[in-house]
Amino acid sequence: MRALLLFLAHQENIKNFFLKFKFFRDTAWRFVAGETMDDAIKAVREANRIKIRASLDLLGENTLSREDAIKAADEVVKILDGIGQEKVDCNVSVKLTQLGLDLNTDFCQQNLMRIAKHAAEMGNFVRVDMEDHNYTQRTLDIVLRARKELETVGTVIQAYLYRSEQDVRMLLENNVRMRLCKGAYLEPVTISFKKKSDTDANFVKIMKMLLESDQYHALATHDEAMITATEQYAREKNIGKDRFEFQMLYGIRRDLQQRLAREGYNVRIYVPYGHRWYPYFMRRLAERPANVFFIARNLFRG
Ligand code: FDA
Repeated sequence: MRALLLFLAHQENIKNFFLKFKFFRDTAWRFVAGETMDDAIKAVREANRIKIRASLDLLGENTLSREDAIKAADEVVKILDGIGQEKVDCNVSVKLTQLGLDLNTDFCQQNLMRIAKHAAEMGNFVRVDMEDHNYTQRTLDIVLRARKELETVGTVIQAYLYRSEQDVRMLLENNVRMRLCKGAYLEPVTISFKKKSDTDANFVKIMKMLLESDQYHALATHDEAMITATEQYAREKNIGKDRFEFQMLYGIRRDLQQRLAREGYNVRIYVPYGHRWYPYFMRRLAERPANVFFIARNLFRG
């Protein structure tokens, strides 16, 4: 089921079929804050009200033209201005394929630098999301180059990849701030753990490496076992709640987000918005079979 949904995430004709159904479109709004920047800022403000920070993500990936990549970078610069004007507690997340990584690496680097420099001017921060394994090395290379010039850029590590532990060591040496997640793409068995228990064990291993470092990192998961392991390790090692943050996705486990914030942990939600929500939404469906059964039951009524 997971493989099928992740495959469908990239099928344009299937997308057009699904989009005909109102219920399918409506369900997406559980995971996506809306189509405009105003919708997104509204969601951020609501989160901030209950002491939860946010990271705004302008949806879009695998941009096919330079013009579109530049437009996406322009929009992210505008978001940073919006965040400053609205005085909300929020940074931004970007995907390098949205900024032209499929077109040309230097061009993509320039787009990222423009955003990261603007973030620095605004006293803000840019998180570079991690996409599938075809982009891992190039993403790390681009982030490292950016990090040499600016502190305002960090990236994401996926616990399901065998290489991640080694990548984390290298990124720690270069003072790169990381978000640790399990990983959302369909990856070959030759390079990734297939059993949930193995990915979880690697998540815990890397979580410890991050907590022990003197940088501020993020643990991005809704898995209570991972969260408990993090809380326990931080207590055991006397690592203050202000030294790291938990991150979760907009619309998922709000109860858990709120409980952690009430308990004094730093919590940030990832708030996606924009028109290009289909692949993001399919990845969220793939993570939880119950989401798919819910859609399937209702699809043909809509
Ligand atoms: P797991 O999948 O084991 O789920 C644990 C529990 O969480 C489930 O039992 C369920 O209760 C709940 N849950 C999880 N997903 C759900 C869903 N879609 N709907 C409803 N409930 C759900 N990945 C990536 O490859 N690159 C990236 O850059 C990022 N960035 C990122 C940012 C942030 C802030 C988060 C939280 C996650 C990501 N991810 C990501 C996605 C990540 O890799 C992973 O696919 C999801 O977080 C699901 O994994 P969990 O750690 O939640 O555990």
